Amino acid sequence: MKVYLSQDAAAKALGSEAVAAALKEALGDTPVTRVGSRGMVWLEPLLEIDRGQGREAWGPVAPGDIPAILAGDIPSLGLTEEIPFLAKQTRLTFQRCGIIDPLDLAQYEAHGGLAGLRRALGLSGEQMIDEMKASGLRGRGGAGFPTGIKWDTVRMAHADQKYIVCNADEGDSGTFADRMIMEGDPFCLIEGMAIAGLCTSATQGYVYTRSEYPDAVAVMRRAIELARAAGVLGGDVLGSGRAFDMEVRVGAGAYVCGEETSLLNSLEGKRGVVRAKPPLPALEGFLGRPTVVNNVISLATVPVIFEKGAAYYADFGLGRSRGTIPVQIAGNVKHGGLFETAFGMSLGELVEEIGGGTASGRPVKAVQIGGPLGAYFGREKFDTPFGYEEFDGQGGLIGHAGVVVFDDSADMLGMARFAMEFCAVESCGKCTPCRIGAVRGVETLDRIKAGDGAAVEVLTDLCEVMKDGSLCALGGFTPYPVLSALEAFPEEFGQVKEAAE
Ligand SMILES: Cc1cc2nc3c(=O)[nH]c(=O)nc-3n(C[C@H](O)[C@H](O)[C@H](O)COP(=O)(O)O)c2cc1C
Ligand code: SF4
Repeated sequence: MKVYLSQDAAAKALGSEAVAAALKEALGDTPVTRVGSRGMVWLEPLLEIDRGQGREAWGPVAPGDIPAILAGDIPSLGLTEEIPFLAKQTRLTFQRCGIIDPLDLAQYEAHGGLAGLRRALGLSGEQMIDEMKASGLRGRGGAGFPTGIKWDTVRMAHADQKYIVCNADEGDSGTFADRMIMEGDPFCLIEGMAIAGLCTSATQGYVYTRSEYPDAVAVMRRAIELARAAGVLGGDVLGSGRAFDMEVRVGAGAYVCGEETSLLNSLEGKRGVVRAKPPLPALEGFLGRPTVVNNVISLATVPVIFEKGAAYYADFGLGRSRGTIPVQIAGNVKHGGLFETAFGMSLGELVEEIGGGTASGRPVKAVQIGGPLGAYFGREKFDTPFGYEEFDGQGGLIGHAGVVVFDDSADMLGMARFAMEFCAVESCGKCTPCRIGAVRGVETLDRIKAGDGAAVEVLTDLCEVMKDGSLCALGGFTPYPVLSALEAFPEEFGQVKEAAE
């Protein structure tokens, strides 16, 4: 009998450690493998037992359930892989998450790990770029910029030192994909960063994350030590004679420190203030040297691209959105969790079928996609397929693929006010449209709430100024949630809703 219990921070928050103690008491010396999360957060703590017929699941499990589960008195949910939420996924980036012991390098290799790095070591930098471009991978941190092109800029730059910086700040509301990978499959991120280093001739990498992620920090640090001891990192990567090493750096946790130039300042020990671009970080990044800044998911997707080939990866998806995207379904939703799927699934299917509708049981009113700077989509936009261009065409963005669900009790004027307030609090202060505009935005929304209908025009003008005049997307995109809420729910802003044509 093999027993597996999730050790992800979400599982811990939901009581997994008390379950672990109950298992120890009941099982004595029978080992329990602590794994990352399968991503079905509503079933955490998730317990799996394999009695030779595959892994069966129980969840959410309470400590008091353990004796009855072991005695066979509580039926399982069936085989974990057959739970519809998992069975409907295409797991490429998250292929090992929740399955292996995150810190067991042998298990990592047995499940396809390091195959990508080994293959990459046989390719030239140019061939690696070709592979990346052919995969169609675009940055999963927010902007959707083609990863291969970014790497090529760094590869072609001349410098005594280049860097790979992994953006693990993960500040978007309702997102946890980066954390899940770092806690559940850290070697995958290490492998992706090592491939990026080999490709661009960068020999040093940093994972920049926040202090709110203590478990991810601990797991990543231990995994880096293990990888170094096994010769995956260090002066002679897998005996190739090529060097790549990395470390984890922890920021205090400010939303703007996820913006790449602000992040680089923070990484250099300075205040997290946005830098004007150009110069691009790819040319003058960390300590003024050429630097790849990529999101965790972008980098953690690199190993599977090199393991299975660019064509295999690019075969999934829709239009210019190739491969898979780990959608994080959160907020007022029945089945919250991480759902990795090929681009193309409709928003409505993700929210209503996969997510199961709201946790409150009330109708879904709207979803916010792409973090605090993302637009609100009402039900009329639920046909939109998950794809960068498709969302853009509807006035939205995918961002880091967080979907936060609201039921019909949501106060949309209040949410618009929250967006402005968030911007005011998190603004780095460098440019006026954001620093002052967000404060004026809160005041204007308060006027609208008090019944001043004329203030709506002031709000839309202000949003235009913020969009056009802000230095970075914090000020520049805050108008998205504000204007989309106004457009979809004008009556909540004291406006008359136009009849649909
Ligand atoms: C205010 C703000 C916050 C951001 N936060 C994050 C973040 O937490 N994680 C992230 O990967 N990218 C974040 N980004 C996007 C980064 O600036 C950058 O585009 C990204 O790290 C590039 O990696 P990618 O190409 O792999 O997506 C943020 C951008 C802005 C403007
Ligand atoms: S938009 Fe806001 S966060 Fe971005 S540079 Fe300007 S003040 Fe700073």
